[in-house]
Amino acid sequence: MAEEIVVIEGDGIGGEVVPAAIDVLDAAAASSDAIDADGFTYTYAAAGDAVEAETGEALPAETYEAAANADATLFGAAGETAADVILPLRDAVGSFVNVRPAKAYPGVDAVRPETDVVFLRENTEGVYSGHEDRLSEDLSTLTRVVTSSASRELAEFACEFVADGRGPDHRDGFTVAHKANVMRETDGRFREEVLSVAEEHGVDADEELMDAFATKLPLDPTQYGVVVCGNLAGDVLSDLAAGLVGGLGLLPSANIGHDNALFEPVHGTAPDIAGEGVANPTAAILSAAMLLEYLGYVDEGQGVRDAVEGVLRDGPRTGDLGGSATTSEVTAAIVERL
Ligand code: NAI
Ligand code: MG
Repeated sequence: MAEEIVVIEGDGIGGEVVPAAIDVLDAAAASSDAIDADGFTYTYAAAGDAVEAETGEALPAETYEAAANADATLFGAAGETAADVILPLRDAVGSFVNVRPAKAYPGVDAVRPETDVVFLRENTEGVYSGHEDRLSEDLSTLTRVVTSSASRELAEFACEFVADGRGPDHRDGFTVAHKANVMRETDGRFREEVLSVAEEHGVDADEELMDAFATKLPLDPTQYGVVVCGNLAGDVLSDLAAGLVGGLGLLPSANIGHDNALFEPVHGTAPDIAGEGVANPTAAILSAAMLLEYLGYVDEGQGVRDAVEGVLRDGPRTGDLGGSATTSEVTAAIVERL
């Protein structure tokens, strides 16, 4: 039976790069024996600034329900309402880990062309769990939440990820980045649980204080492969890695849950170029490749990645990468290779 994919384009270039990713999914389905002859079933749902302006709600209940009941969701970007859309959507799919690869590609100008790291970021707690209070005119506080169960769930995922060979080739095991020397209770618990799960699974895990990691990563990214971290650390450190590979238009991400997942480019709505048809579709297309892998179509996902890599190397390229091609021209070149 054809898998049901919920498609949420959102605002700005979301409406340009998501259709490009759907073209690529269709091409991947057409050239694969494993995918149902009818391909995927797409259900379109709305979210973002435009919907809020129209209905008063950035994330309508029917969109939340659609994502919650889908096999997987592909999301573009939302503008000012991004937090009101993405956080509940991650919740709708029950996501406990955010997977963010940062890989430099031949043909793309990068600060560190040898970068190839994958961040596995805890996606539900830490300082992003929403427990903030204003206690007086002078005082605000934040409660940092760390549970053994979420830490272990993340670590179990990391062990499986590494065992499946989904990490970069140059490094075995994973590195856990934390700040347990200062946040002894919360990050102490996180560190201990992650390292003990790794030991139980016989996975080679080392650790790094997150501030030291932030210095060492740009100096020599080849020291790292898979990096496991808490919610805030993962957010900041993966953005640092994004800076090393050259360009927001390239970076995909996946929010993985137990029986559902949400895939989205890391970039936003790019209001400066929206509507011109020149957005780089790579991040959205690589997010679609992650979606294929999640659904079990590993070879098809790799095929998309290879096609993208070929086009990044040989062109055509969009303006952000120094070219002058349109979104459709780049997409057509990727589809052609498939
Ligand atoms: P942005 O990612 O939209 O744009 C930053 C810069 O990168 C711009 O110069 C843009 O043109 C360029 N860029 C981004 N994606 C590109 C692509 N695919 N091809 C070519 N160039 C690309 O981030 P910004 O400007 O901080 O935010 C704009 C809006 O997007 C805001 O309303 C923000 O709230 C929202 N946003 C939404 C996110 C989401 O939905 N996941 C994430 C980040 C921002
Ligand atoms: Mg971020």
